[in-house]
Amino acid sequence: MNEGAPGNDLEVLLDTETLDRRIAELGREISADYRGRPLRLVGILKGSWVFMASLARRLELEVTVDFLGVASYERSTEPTGAVRITKDLDHSIEGLDVLVVEDILDTGRTFEYILGVLSAHRPRSLKTVTLLDKPSRRVRPVKADYVGFTVPDVFVVGYGLDYAQRFRHLPDVRIFRPA
Ligand code: IMP
Ligand code: MG
Repeated sequence: MNEGAPGNDLEVLLDTETLDRRIAELGREISADYRGRPLRLVGILKGSWVFMASLARRLELEVTVDFLGVASYERSTEPTGAVRITKDLDHSIEGLDVLVVEDILDTGRTFEYILGVLSAHRPRSLKTVTLLDKPSRRVRPVKADYVGFTVPDVFVVGYGLDYAQRFRHLPDVRIFRPA
């Protein structure tokens, strides 16, 4: 297996089986909630890319996908507070049932910003799913409609999540402690 991290000690927090099992459950729950309605998934780049691919394949719905690029962290494990759009949606979401797919909900600044931007485009409904939730770090009053796992206040990488753009390809979620 690709360690991807010489010199860093990455402890596995969520292994691939645990991730697969929970994402299958989320897929069943979301499929039941939207039964008979087409669903537009909007993945937040880049972190949600792996989770979105796994979740989408567990949905028994008519699914379409789009991506919104957002940058919030610059080479650091601490948020700067600044959020900016790096890639806009390709297709209108007006009148659609939209589910925003995020990798991790941390301070809540990114979610708050994204929900403001997307609701201005007048979707029929707007809900959120996050693979990971770190509620201990929240500074904005937001929560996700669907949560994969609640995690402690540690910096995690893998399964799409990065540290300075590294480790996104790891097949599980691991704890990163800067050396
Ligand atoms: P928030 O705006 O503070 O909620 O941060 C959300 C974004 O910060 C996520 O989409 C991630 O890109 C990044 N982030 C927050 N915590 C972590 C972490 O533990 N590992 C990797 N990225 C993180
Ligand atoms: Mg992100």
